[in-house]
Amino acid sequence: MGAPEGQEARRIDGKAIAKRVREEVRERVAALAKRGIQPGLATVLVGDDPASAIYVRNKEKACREVGMESIGVKLPGSTTQAELLAVVDDLNRRADVHGILVQLPLPVDLDSNVVIERISPAKDVDGLHPVSQGRLLAGAPGLRPCTPLGVMRLLDEVGVDPRGRRAVVVGRSLLVGKPVALLLLERHATVTICHTRTSDLAAEVGSADIVIAAAGKPGAVRGEWIRAGATVIDVGTNRTEAGLVGDVEYEAAARRAAHISPVPGGVGPMTIAMLLSNTADAATPHG
Ligand code: GUN
Repeated sequence: MGAPEGQEARRIDGKAIAKRVREEVRERVAALAKRGIQPGLATVLVGDDPASAIYVRNKEKACREVGMESIGVKLPGSTTQAELLAVVDDLNRRADVHGILVQLPLPVDLDSNVVIERISPAKDVDGLHPVSQGRLLAGAPGLRPCTPLGVMRLLDEVGVDPRGRRAVVVGRSLLVGKPVALLLLERHATVTICHTRTSDLAAEVGSADIVIAAAGKPGAVRGEWIRAGATVIDVGTNRTEAGLVGDVEYEAAARRAAHISPVPGGVGPMTIAMLLSNTADAATPHG
């Protein structure tokens, strides 16, 4: 099933797939409009970190492009914890706000755990609230984190069913590693979570039909480790002098894998698309 000799793996086009997801969301937004509902996403940006400002601007633009309302809240870096919690309380109460995203990282004086816990779980479109995480662990319905959802959608789009496959996740973060492992488990994969203290990462990765690289370190997954015919999803977004690079040695891995997602243009565009999808879910009346 691997890439035939001398042929590169199929490159997973995250940009095209994300576009398709956004198109689906646009249709859902149009259907909600007929019921008198316009989904609204509030983004909260504290301080003046330039990278965070760009991320938030992209989220706001993507929102408007699918017909959602974008409510941008910009607060100075001097904002206190109490002030930020009051803003979250206000957004929790607003009927026109269906999703709330507090851009991370917050300035050092603010406690992101406390802030995220203050978001109503019904509006937790980032899927980071402990209630959302608990629901994921329990296999109960709830909002799931966007990047892990994007990873699962990429697998679905290339026709890789996790059922019965060996999946190795490299990285154990709350944002990606742990939740993507649970989503793979939910889809009946046999899942191994690896991290910096895994004793033989090469052997673990080499046993995998599906590799999810989310270590946050360039070259963390060597191309020669990849089993022939595996599917490789690279979640790494590492800014280096050479530009944005993933965690996987792409060229070498692409010679062995059947499918591989590039950086940029793989998982990256999926995160915002799944945020929009979560916001549409949060705005859809249940029951
Ligand atoms: N900063 C980097 N990634 C994320 C994310 O997924 N959600 C939020 N809120 N902030 C981030």
